[in-house]
Amino acid sequence: MKAEKVLIVGGSSSMGLATAVQASSKGFRVVVAGRNEEKLRQIANNLGNQASYYQVDAMEEKQVVEMLRELAPIDHIAMTVNAPGSATSISNTSTEEAKLVFERFWMNYRILNLARECMSPNGSISLISGSSSKTPVAQYSFWGTLHGSIEALARNAALDLAPLRVNVVSPGGIGLKPDRQLVEHLGMPEDIGKAIVSLIENPAISNAKLDVDSGERQGTWSG
Ligand SMILES: NC(=O)c1ccc[n+]([C@@H]2O[C@H](COP(=O)([O-])OP(=O)(O)OC[C@H]3O[C@@H](n4cnc5c(N)ncnc54)[C@H](OP(=O)(O)O)[C@@H]3O)[C@@H](O)[C@H]2O)c1
Repeated sequence: MKAEKVLIVGGSSSMGLATAVQASSKGFRVVVAGRNEEKLRQIANNLGNQASYYQVDAMEEKQVVEMLRELAPIDHIAMTVNAPGSATSISNTSTEEAKLVFERFWMNYRILNLARECMSPNGSISLISGSSSKTPVAQYSFWGTLHGSIEALARNAALDLAPLRVNVVSPGGIGLKPDRQLVEHLGMPEDIGKAIVSLIENPAISNAKLDVDSGERQGTWSG
């Protein structure tokens, strides 16, 4: 039987790369996508196991449509993509800057919007939010807002797209220590990769949020 195909948008760095390594080691056919072709090519070569790459700017609708059409049928998609711009709190982030950072929401939306046409009906989509939706931090209130929006998007898409499964992984600050946490281990990209692959592999999980944040109880992280 042919191995299932996993597309990782944002697969060339950190959490996405860790997801690619995990998925490939479990026998999935991985496609890493991002903007830097040279980086993607090297990663696909190193992964082996039928891995390939696709150069795409996920902010460009036309490019995303083409990618999904060419790669279809896709079994699983993981969205570990980042957006340009910087934001901090709602009171410190201009509307223009906020719109730029919010592109991350729209990149996720675009994939969900197009999913039915390009995915196996029993596949899955995993999004990334962030622990600031659960434990708001005044200085990062815009991030909490964005992450909460991505979680709401996933919950509603899980209903809309079923039986396709839609889930979210919510990381704490990677390698950062929250003020209050339940376990000493600080989440690293590999922990996020493992969480995403566990959601991909489990046919009974949809409309779920998996917190991978060391049991964070209060934000304001330090290094
Ligand atoms: N780091 C944390 O502590 C933390 C905590 C919670 C949530 N998050 C969120 O989790 C996600 C993953 O974080 P990370 O640290 O793994 O991010 P990262 O290291 O910045 O990686 C982002 C990936 O997205 C790709 N990318 C960026 N813009 C793109 C575009 N327009 N089109 C296609 N690909 C694009 C990048 O490759 P190219 O640049 O080559 O395109 C790269 O592969 C991000 O959304 C981040 O905001 C991070």
